[in-house]
Amino acid sequence: MRVPIIAANWKMHKTVQEAVDYVEQLAGLLAKGNVETVICPPFPLLGFVAEACRQHGLRLGAQNMHWEEAGAFTGEVSPLLLKDLAVDYVIIGHSERRQLFGETDQQVARKVKAAFAYDLTPILCVGETLHQREAEQTLQVIAEQVRIGLEGLDPSQVRRVVVAYEPVWAIGSGLAATGADAQAAAKQIRKTIAEIFSLKAARDVRIQYGGSVKPDNIVDFMQQEEIDGALVGGAGLDAEVFASLINRAQGEVVS
Ligand code: PGA
Repeated sequence: MRVPIIAANWKMHKTVQEAVDYVEQLAGLLAKGNVETVICPPFPLLGFVAEACRQHGLRLGAQNMHWEEAGAFTGEVSPLLLKDLAVDYVIIGHSERRQLFGETDQQVARKVKAAFAYDLTPILCVGETLHQREAEQTLQVIAEQVRIGLEGLDPSQVRRVVVAYEPVWAIGSGLAATGADAQAAAKQIRKTIAEIFSLKAARDVRIQYGGSVKPDNIVDFMQQEEIDGALVGGAGLDAEVFASLINRAQGEVVS
């Protein structure tokens, strides 16, 4: 049974006080349920919210990391430090990292491997651009990103990965994919994993949909059999909105 997982990616938003207030507010608004809730603040805020997250049963995630443990890598953050800060999850290969910061599939693969080396769970982001979608390359692009991103892992690691299907054109645009699109992409991800690793890994891996997820459309995604949660940007910035999104998702989850 896959435990549903919904994560808020704050991107480059919030101050220390805003972050601390958000966590308290969110914790007070969440209904009891079995959706694993993850907060992914910017690096400098991780230490400020870690303890409150732990107390309230929220999981902590980072938005990126380097693959090396330490060294002359100005401006980068080590997986060892993330572990030290009680981080559980790390988003890897978000399309903003790929598009704005030139991250390649190969770098993504190194980061995914490093995450396991430091006992962090990677949330591997994959998804097609509008151009690729229009050229009907969606399923092929997803399969390739999954194949390279997971290269070098063993099936027992792959089954613990979270894969976020995030069509680039849906991120921050207000234009979400349909539940059926997300379901088709998730099927492709499981098929690819089954071919390369094992059927068990393919069945166990959790798949999120991301891209303009809101309280109004979360149920469409949670109702899809192959979708196990969401990676949320804009709607994860306000504690009230995010709580309402998760509470609606809980209603869709068979516990
Ligand atoms: P959005 O962002 O929810 O604002 O579209 C999603 C993401 O970037 O993960």
